[in-house]
Amino acid sequence: MRVLLTGGSGDLGQTLVPMFVRKGHTPVILDIRAPYDSRYGVYIQGSILDREKLKESFSGCDCIVHIAAWHGIHEVRGEKDSYDFFDLNVRGTFEVFEMAASLGINKIVFISTTSIGRPDTLYGRSKILAECTAEDYRKYKNMNVITLRPRAFIPFWNRGVYANYSDWARWFWKGAVHIDDVASAVVLSVDLISRQHLGRQIILTLDGAYEYTDDDLAHWDTDGPGSTFKKYYSKYYDLTLSYGLDPGLKPTKLDISETVRWLGYKPSYSLATLLSDLAAYGDSGPPQFTLTTSGPFGSSGAASGQSR
Ligand SMILES: NC(=O)c1ccc[n+]([C@@H]2O[C@H](COP(=O)([O-])OP(=O)(O)OC[C@H]3O[C@@H](n4cnc5c(N)ncnc54)[C@H](O)[C@@H]3O)[C@@H](O)[C@H]2O)c1
Repeated sequence: MRVLLTGGSGDLGQTLVPMFVRKGHTPVILDIRAPYDSRYGVYIQGSILDREKLKESFSGCDCIVHIAAWHGIHEVRGEKDSYDFFDLNVRGTFEVFEMAASLGINKIVFISTTSIGRPDTLYGRSKILAECTAEDYRKYKNMNVITLRPRAFIPFWNRGVYANYSDWARWFWKGAVHIDDVASAVVLSVDLISRQHLGRQIILTLDGAYEYTDDDLAHWDTDGPGSTFKKYYSKYYDLTLSYGLDPGLKPTKLDISETVRWLGYKPSYSLATLLSDLAAYGDSGPPQFTLTTSGPFGSSGAASGQSR
């Protein structure tokens, strides 16, 4: 299949491209900036807000993964304002769905966010409106749509955001999902909408893997600070302290039961993976990643040969 990725030069797109290639698909990247790794897929330089470019790049594609958006970091850092969020996230989503519908492409995976639970933010509001657009096209243009709501997944190699691996670990510690797991859910979603017309609204939350059970979280550290941590990761206790990480910090875990049910989603990256990587590689992180500096938008790091 020819799968078009809007914003495919960003972190998620660049993680997805080799995965799609391995599955025998041809990824087509539509982005205003070039991908770091040009070995795979087809790159078309252009904006989702440019209708001619959209038409040219969508033509002949079977499925769209709509990724391009400003996200939380652009708001928090004050890099993008209300107009930017409306233009790219809201109007951009409309442009993508309208063009797909007009060309008869009816399979779309839309990347939303758990930040729809934050309507007090520009980002949250823009994605709520974008989700409404996705649902409108699904319902009234008979499109086959899966909306994914990942929690934060900026990868550790994004040097525009994280100084090093333990900096990223500090953030992951609170509960997060690894970008590889997000990408695996996208691939599973593309598989599902290619096999079956779903005929109903499907919105799925993406979280990572946890060793902690719901019971552990409900009775957190009843035997003293760090006691729940020690139950699973005692051999990493000193290492954790040496990097200034807090064994007593309780992560939040999201309900992904619907995602498991629909997609067979099985996240693999957990605190155990993180600790084992930290022990093995320290602040550089796993070595298979080629680190680069941030891209033109501050939050855009990159990797080549991303698969773990
Ligand atoms: N990164 C996270 O933590 C996170 C969490 C939840 C949801 N999301 C969602 O994931 C998606 C992006 O994630 P990412 O981490 O890959 O972001 P990213 O910033 O690395 O990539 C976004 C890409 O969009 C491109 N882009 C910007 N304007 C464009 C335009 N007009 N036309 C085409 N491309 C354009 C950028 O050049 C960039 O390559 C967004 O939809 C975001 O809302 C991200």
